Amino acid sequence: MKLIIDTANIDKIKDYLNYLPVDGVTTNPSILKKEGNIDFVEHMKEIRSLIGSDKSLHIQTIATDYDGIIKDARKIVELIDKNVYIKVPVSKDGLAAIKTLKAEGFKITATAIYSEIQALLATELGADYLAPYVNRMTNLNSDPYEVINNVAYNIAATNSETHILAASFKNIDQVLKAVQAGSTHVTVGSDVVDLFLKDANISKAVTDFSNDWNDVHGNFEI
Ligand code: E4P
Repeated sequence: MKLIIDTANIDKIKDYLNYLPVDGVTTNPSILKKEGNIDFVEHMKEIRSLIGSDKSLHIQTIATDYDGIIKDARKIVELIDKNVYIKVPVSKDGLAAIKTLKAEGFKITATAIYSEIQALLATELGADYLAPYVNRMTNLNSDPYEVINNVAYNIAATNSETHILAASFKNIDQVLKAVQAGSTHVTVGSDVVDLFLKDANISKAVTDFSNDWNDVHGNFEI
């Protein structure tokens, strides 16, 4: 499981880089909204410098129309970093933009995926990553794991180099089920990441081991 962090919060990213196998960072305009009135370009550059050039950074376009998406993508690459994965929602204009941007050599993360057909079309247009929205699909009574499984099958059957980067999680169970269904990558927000190790049994085990050592050896170190 390649773990990508779905946040633009600098403190959270710094913390996760210390102890998690972070493979990259994703953002979207709603995630950015949580950081307040930031300088978009400077903030994204700071995230890039924090995670380094070997991890993936996925930044979403703002515009909803074809021309605007293309303009946003060019600006992101010019002003922030040439290796950014441009996140483009899979709408009609989004697919047209993905087609153009891939032909120009951009790296693309196709996002806002609610259905298998969106995923298959974006795969065929050469998207590097597909972001199926697990929790949002569940809310709509659609089965995200069946979609992921079928898309993974298609990727393998067509020898495509597209990766599935499942997104939109509200709990750990959804993350694990997405991985079991064939998602090689997941992008997880801090509300769920912070639950990964938040189990009272873990801290109890650590305290018990420490107490057992101290009972016999006092404060002597190894
Ligand atoms: C990430 O790429 C997605 O934009 C994000 O995970 C959507 O999450 P949400 O459904 O919690 O808004």
